Amino acid sequence: MNVTSDQGEMIRFLDEQTLEVNLPNKLGYERIAMDCTASFARIVGFVPERISDLKTAVAEACLNAMEHGNRGRSDARVIVSMNFDGQTFSVSVMDEGEGIVELPEDPDIEKKIERLEPPRGLGIFLIRRLMDHVEFNKLSDQGNMLRMVLKMSRSH
Ligand SMILES: Nc1ncnc2c1ncn2[C@@H]1O[C@H](COP(=O)(O)OP(=O)(O)OP(=O)(O)O)[C@@H](O)[C@H]1O
Ligand SMILES: [Mg+2]
Repeated sequence: MNVTSDQGEMIRFLDEQTLEVNLPNKLGYERIAMDCTASFARIVGFVPERISDLKTAVAEACLNAMEHGNRGRSDARVIVSMNFDGQTFSVSVMDEGEGIVELPEDPDIEKKIERLEPPRGLGIFLIRRLMDHVEFNKLSDQGNMLRMVLKMSRSH
């Protein structure tokens, strides 16, 4: 069964192992992608701790796609596609932008806590820390794509 919106199907299975969520570029809608990835990861057997990591990473990637990739354009879409092949769970977050111009260096968390550095600039750091593998600026039909991978072996 597919869930539809005025923009067409919002959630659909591309095949038995691949689910795609097509989101409007609206803050708050990243929660739909978080919940879908979490449900899918739970069904295929990931432990709750890894599922929370996944939700955080998906949220940060979607917010970046909406804010930086699509630059807040209300007619743009964010497409989140997830696949489990029996060993690895991969999530791709696509936006209509040009990709990240320069990957940021790891932030100094102490300085941020002490407010010596601005509180922003944590998203990519978190994604890298939480996921087993991350690829930036991949080309897709939609434009720019961030791909992240969780390995099943680490959760057991
Ligand atoms: N999808 C994207 N398209 C284009 N640029 C991006 C994208 N994602 C991230 N960036 C760039 O990388 C920078 C770092 O992203 P990151 O998520 O680490 O920090 P932030 O979004 O600026 O702040 P925070 O995530 O802490 O709210 C962004 O400021 C932006 O310039
Ligand atoms: Mg961010």
